[in-house]
Amino acid sequence: MEEKAEKPKVVLGVAGGIAAYKACELLRRLTESGHDVRVVPTASALHFVGAATWSALSGHPVSTEVWTDVHEVPHVRIGQSADLVVVAPATADLLARAAHGLADDLLTNTLLTARCPVVFAPAMHTEMWEHPATQENVATLRRRGAVVIEPAVGRLTGVDTGKGRLPDPEEIFEICRRVLARVVREADLAGRHVVVSAGGTREPLDPVRYLGNRSSGKQGYALARTAVARGARVTLIEANTGMADPAGADVVHVGTAVQLREAVLKAAAEADAVVMAAAVADFRPAVYAEGKIKKKDGEEPAPVALIRNPDILAEISAERAHAEQVIVGFAAETDDVLAHGRQKLRRKGCDLLVVNEVGERKAFGAAENEAVVLAADGGETPVPYGPKEALADVVWDLVIPRLGRAPGVGTGA
Ligand code: C5P
Repeated sequence: MEEKAEKPKVVLGVAGGIAAYKACELLRRLTESGHDVRVVPTASALHFVGAATWSALSGHPVSTEVWTDVHEVPHVRIGQSADLVVVAPATADLLARAAHGLADDLLTNTLLTARCPVVFAPAMHTEMWEHPATQENVATLRRRGAVVIEPAVGRLTGVDTGKGRLPDPEEIFEICRRVLARVVREADLAGRHVVVSAGGTREPLDPVRYLGNRSSGKQGYALARTAVARGARVTLIEANTGMADPAGADVVHVGTAVQLREAVLKAAAEADAVVMAAAVADFRPAVYAEGKIKKKDGEEPAPVALIRNPDILAEISAERAHAEQVIVGFAAETDDVLAHGRQKLRRKGCDLLVVNEVGERKAFGAAENEAVVLAADGGETPVPYGPKEALADVVWDLVIPRLGRAPGVGTGA
């Protein structure tokens, strides 16, 4: 008889913030993709979205406190049997209670009994997020191995704008999916700050034209998402991808190579690792025409003179922010891939170089990739054809042993 695989068990904790309504969409995505979801709201959360909604969408009873169905010992069972606990939104109060190990309702009991990965998606006003009390609670939770997703920047409740928005539910879902798929159960990039560049630069010729390339940014986004799921603080420097910001990353939007350089140098100053997945234009037009270049009857267009862009990867490799910083480059080659890759690794001076063969339909824009990761110490790791996030995980697997000791991680505090 065919054995039916059990659905992964997810506990969706919902704390009392207005963003609770967005958790309905997260719940729907989780259930529709084959997860068995038990919703555990706090009493305050029910002011925003009622128990009937959670119950109908999850197909499970919903309770906020430990006194319902006592014979089933829910305060222990729900956490014990979970494969993932995700709290979205997590308010300042919930983060404080979790950090201090309080157990005054069903959700905080569940957090204490869960031994699976835990993801918090905080949402609150900027002042509350930035308050040292909240920041210390977040640091405590991260030190213990929880993934605390950085809030997004944008419109908050009322007239305020700033950091504190709950990221889009589909992006939180992406993080949950990756955390569940994680082979390593610990958040092995906890306490680390990584910088990832993604996309392709555009070098303007005039106000309407530019020199660009076909990089989609998908590989860089896969690197950012997997790093968030592994517990890292991520700065994503994005050039012209047109994609929604991934949850949990601080995103800097740039257009040109010069802007990308500035953003990378700033972020790299205090980063443990920098991964340059962006396709940076090697040249830019020597002159930028302030007005649109016009065609003139009977005249051939003037040739476009190009000048070199700075090589950011070579620059940050030569002038490292600190001795233990790990720097990763990408190289797209069309022929004699490995020999060119080895030369490039030496020329750029980085620690790892992800080399892939490009062609008409290879690598650019696709969701899959195939590559060899070359290491400056001679290592060679072939990565078979597969999803870009699988390659991203191999890159992090190779980065981690090259990093220095993480400050304060794994102290069991
Ligand atoms: O020299 P090439 O363009 O093949 O090198 C690719 C690698 O170098 C990528 O990691 C890319 O992000 C980086 N790069 C850079 N600055 C440039 C050109 C490439 O950092 N001007």
